[in-house]
Amino acid sequence: MYVCLCHGFTDGDVRKAIADGCRSVAAVYRHIADRPQCGKCVPDVRSMVNGQGVAEAASEQGNCCMTMALTEAAA
Ligand code: FES
Repeated sequence: MYVCLCHGFTDGDVRKAIADGCRSVAAVYRHIADRPQCGKCVPDVRSMVNGQGVAEAASEQGNCCMTMALTEAAA
């Protein structure tokens, strides 16, 4: 699932960055895309860095678009 539309990276890309040793949001962006553009994906990346999945983060943040995509994907 896409996490960042500006740079086109996915939750798998973030997981790989974390597996490669990135332990902060800034490190993940440096690893994948240099830095955020609009910043809308930062909370999701932060949640993943903190050990939380994107689905949980989307639901906690009330991210309706992401929650809808996850709901549709699960159906
Ligand atoms: Fe990631 Fe805009 S959605 S920087």
